[in-house]
Amino acid sequence: MKTLNKSATGKAHGKIILIGEHAVVYGEPAIAFPFKAAPVMVKITKTETPARIASSYYSGPLNEAPDVLANIKLLLETIGHDLDQPVGNLSITITSCIPAERGMGSSAAVANAFVRALFKYFNMPLDKERLLYYVDISEKIAHGNPSGIDARVTGSEFPVFYKKGSTFEALSIHLSGYLIAADTGVKGRTGEAVADVARCVEERPEQTMETIRTIGQLTLQAKDALAHNALEDLGRLLTQAHSMLQKLTVSDDTLDHLVETAIQSGALGAKLTGGGRGGCMIALAQSEQKAKIIADKLLEQGAVNTWIHALGEDNNE
Ligand code: MEV
Repeated sequence: MKTLNKSATGKAHGKIILIGEHAVVYGEPAIAFPFKAAPVMVKITKTETPARIASSYYSGPLNEAPDVLANIKLLLETIGHDLDQPVGNLSITITSCIPAERGMGSSAAVANAFVRALFKYFNMPLDKERLLYYVDISEKIAHGNPSGIDARVTGSEFPVFYKKGSTFEALSIHLSGYLIAADTGVKGRTGEAVADVARCVEERPEQTMETIRTIGQLTLQAKDALAHNALEDLGRLLTQAHSMLQKLTVSDDTLDHLVETAIQSGALGAKLTGGGRGGCMIALAQSEQKAKIIADKLLEQGAVNTWIHALGEDNNE
C-alpha cells in the first residue's frame, strides 16, 4: 500500500471564452483563453474530524455544505470509491481568485484543482483523460449540459480552439491587441441560460439553429483573424457574435449596456463572455492605452472589476 502524503495541492485557473459560447453546446467551434490572472488552488490535508471544507462560499463539515459544493462532494465520493481510498478525514481548502458565477469557469477550475490535489494526496498518477473524465462529471452537476470547454480550458496553458467531441487544438495567435474583461457584478446563470437556449431550439428550431450556425461561422472567421493579426476584423466578429447571443436570449440589459459603452469608448468590438445573464463581458482594444481608457469607462458605467489581457503574450506560453 502506498504511503499517503500529509497534504497536497492542485492548481488551475479561470477561462475567458473569446467567441462561440452556447453554440459550442450544439457542436459548433469555440475559442477560449486560459485566464491566468484568476488562479485557483485547492489544498487537501488529513484531519481527525469528519471531512471539512473551507471556501468563500462556506466553511464547515462537508456533509452540511450547500448545493453549490455538491460537485465537490460527488467527486470526493466517486474518486475515493474508484481509487479504493478512505476520504472521510480530509480537510479541503479552496482559495480562488476567480469571481464565482461570472462565466469565467469557476466551477470547472475548482474541480480541476481539486481532482489534481486529491490524486496527489493519494500518490496516484493522473493523466489528462482521467482528469477530464472527473471534471466533466463535476460540470454536469454544476450546469446541466456542458460542452466540455470550461473543463478543458481551465486546466490548459494555451488558448484553444474547441469542438465538442472532436477537436481540442492549441491556437496559434499572432495578434497585437488587448482584451478587456469586465465583471457586471451580477451572478451569471449559466445552467439556466443553457436550458433556455435548449427551449428556443425546441420551440423555434429553424431560426435558432441558424443563429447557432452563424456563431459557428463567426468563430471560424475569428480563428483566421487571430492567425493574421486582423484586429479590426476580429472586433467586428465579436460584436456580431454578441448580436447572435442576444437572439439566443442569453444577454441582458447590464451586459448590453457595458458592450455599448465599450464600443462608444473606442473598442474594436465587444460581447458577453461565458454563459451570460449577468457574468462578464469582453472588449477588444488596439493598444494598452486604449484598453485602460475602455476599462475606466466600464467601471464608471457599473462594472465592478476589469482585467486587461495582452493577446500577443499567449504566443509565449
Ligand atoms: C459556459 O462557460 C459556456 C457555455 O457555452 C456552456 C458550455 O459550453 O458548457 C455557455
